[in-house]
Amino acid sequence: QPGLKQRLLDAHAAAAEFYTSGLLKPEAQIARQFLTGRGFDRDAAATFGCGYAPDSWDALSKHLRSKGFSAEELTNAGLSKPSRSGSLIDRFRRRLVWPIRDSSGATIGFGARKLFEDDQGPKYLNTPETPLYKKSQVLYGIDLARREIAKSGRVVIVEGYTDVMACHLAGVPVAVATCGTAFGSEHIRVLRRFLFDSESADGRIIFTFDGDEAGQRAALKAFDEEQRFVSQTYIAVTPGGQDPCELRQSAGDAAVRELIERHTPLVQFALDREIAKHDLDTAEGRLHAIRAIAPLLARVKDRGLVEEYIGDYAGRLGKEKAELRRAVAGAA
Ligand code: GTP
Ligand code: MN
Ligand code: MN
Ligand code: MN
Ligand code: MN
Repeated sequence: QPGLKQRLLDAHAAAAEFYTSGLLKPEAQIARQFLTGRGFDRDAAATFGCGYAPDSWDALSKHLRSKGFSAEELTNAGLSKPSRSGSLIDRFRRRLVWPIRDSSGATIGFGARKLFEDDQGPKYLNTPETPLYKKSQVLYGIDLARREIAKSGRVVIVEGYTDVMACHLAGVPVAVATCGTAFGSEHIRVLRRFLFDSESADGRIIFTFDGDEAGQRAALKAFDEEQRFVSQTYIAVTPGGQDPCELRQSAGDAAVRELIERHTPLVQFALDREIAKHDLDTAEGRLHAIRAIAPLLARVKDRGLVEEYIGDYAGRLGKEKAELRRAVAGAA
């Protein structure tokens, strides 16, 4: 008898098939329109396994029950949940769904986007924590990206499902996304298997976020979390607040590739962002700039890297290295 996890994997495989065949039905026109509107054709939808969760309380649950899955298995899988009246209902309804696969390509969960503005619930819904799905470890797209990540020694972290699709189609096949959660140390642990155990000692983690404040804050937070790889962490900020999917649509595939190529070391990005707030033509401005960047440098634990930046930024601010070094020590 197959174990619990295998049963849940089997249920997910059957659900993925149910959703993808659902995308072809007349009622899924709005889902197909969403994909087309985002620049994704049939092939792209097939590669990424996009599907449609129908406008029904229990179509998937009934389908999977008829295939021999128990109510308990479907609940454990996160595919169904008990309604208030106790009957089994589908978790995802009237939504576009993306299968979330592990690195071997097995579906372990789903991400589901609202298609009707007036529907209840958040814009995106994800599978809850299950024996298969650990949101702090899940990276959407890892199945498609892992080989290229190992080969190139690079990984690109984007925000959403559509951004992963856009990057892959634009010729950036190393893109992955967290699924409705912040990038953290457990994601790094998953990536290390592909990224840092490869031949490339210079593995790079490149974050791209919406050029908006929230995206930038997310990148800086990642930098707090993952000190060990701070010298291997980079950021590519999208122009005008666009995400990679929007950039691809407005400016084309080459623009997405160029965005990724123009990545800046995360530490430099953070320092420049502070410095830009000050007028370096005045003594006061330079002083405040030093006071602003000292705490950032104090957070970097790699002493060699800090020394490099002290050298660079002391020069730029017209200060002695010793003065900046003292400010950093004082901010620690
Ligand atoms: P699209 O219109 O789908 O392109 O959305 P967007 O580009 O405005 O998405 P946004 O940048 O807000 O979100 C990117 C990713 O964050 C999504 O792919 C989701 O994984 C996640 N996300 C966004 N909104 C929600 C939400 O309401 N709940 C959850 N759990 N995740 C969300
Ligand atoms: Mn955003
Ligand atoms: Mn948004
Ligand atoms: Mn976005
Ligand atoms: Mn978007």
